[in-house]
Amino acid sequence: MKNYNKIKSMKVHEMLNVYPYSSEFFNINGLPQAGEEVSVHEYFSSLPYSVLQDIGASRDELKKRLDLFIDTMQNMFSIGMPDIKTVTIVGGTAKDGTVENISLTVGIGEVLCIAGNTGSGKSRLLADIEWLAQADTPTKRKILVNGRPFPDSMRFSAENKPVAQLSQNMNFVLDVCVKEFIELHAQSLIDKKTAEKTKNIIQSANELSGEPFDLSSPLTSLSGGQARALMVADIAFLSRSPVILIDEIENAGIDRKKALRLLSSNKKIIIIATHDPLIALSADKRAVMKNGRIEKVIKTTPFEKQTLSRLTEIDEFIEKKRKALRNGDFLRE
Ligand SMILES: Nc1ncnc2c1ncn2[C@@H]1O[C@H](COP(=O)(O)OP(=O)(O)O)[C@@H](O)[C@H]1O
Ligand SMILES: [Mg+2]
Repeated sequence: MKNYNKIKSMKVHEMLNVYPYSSEFFNINGLPQAGEEVSVHEYFSSLPYSVLQDIGASRDELKKRLDLFIDTMQNMFSIGMPDIKTVTIVGGTAKDGTVENISLTVGIGEVLCIAGNTGSGKSRLLADIEWLAQADTPTKRKILVNGRPFPDSMRFSAENKPVAQLSQNMNFVLDVCVKEFIELHAQSLIDKKTAEKTKNIIQSANELSGEPFDLSSPLTSLSGGQARALMVADIAFLSRSPVILIDEIENAGIDRKKALRLLSSNKKIIIIATHDPLIALSADKRAVMKNGRIEKVIKTTPFEKQTLSRLTEIDEFIEKKRKALRNGDFLRE
């Protein structure tokens, strides 16, 4: 319980200052208000049995839930960012143990795609980057930040992790509506322009998902596509994490071109595993994976960029037909 151990000797009101979203934990569980000078540990120790019974958890169980809650929120919000200019992937070994001879640097504002067949090691590479590996994963890769290994003290602290992974499944733990969710996030960053950003996020999310939802929709009622769209917009406008990892956005049910444009407009390093030629060609370069290693790195050529505009037209054509069929229209000549 690393979070709980960190907060247990804080006063409750101090904890609420450091982790503003933890007030939501108190609301959700209907926990009574704490006295001014009570520490978190004293608070939990003195909770009446009747309260625990209502929640249906033991004292220890409740502490564990708070610990997990803080973890989840911090991962989601990637709080407390160091200044990052580059990320470098230093090769390790392939699945068969042969050397991966590469050093690949991606800078702020760049998009790197990871291409390769299923099983070739795309997700593994993203995991190495998320973990800021130091030759301590099966691939033996090292990930450097600004040319240096990231200090262990920061690697393992949820607050200072510079890498946000847009997760494939959203397990929203919060029983709140969209507006409350965004505000909670903005507050935790002490962001002054909450109202304006809330508007931007919801507008972008709706453009991305194509199935409109509004600020009062409960998070738990969002479809997979809507939830993903909300997370993309949220990361674009509020996340301070300079490195964004995305695993196969094409199945997310959102407008992937718009999503990529939105994310890359905000001075971040974007690394995205994909089978989608539209995404692969809109990146600056692509790493091609084979047998668990980066086989080569290809810079998108001018000819490929031309091909991209042709592919985009075809994609729009298909999308139009898809919409028509969905609406129950006939396809006409
Ligand atoms: N360099 C490597 N060394 C050892 N195992 C690897 C390596 N790269 C990938 N793997 C393993 O191979 C499997 C498939 O890789 P994965 O990243 O899931 O492929 P993809 O996402 O491209 O479908 C996973 O179990 C992964 O841990
Ligand atoms: Mg994968």
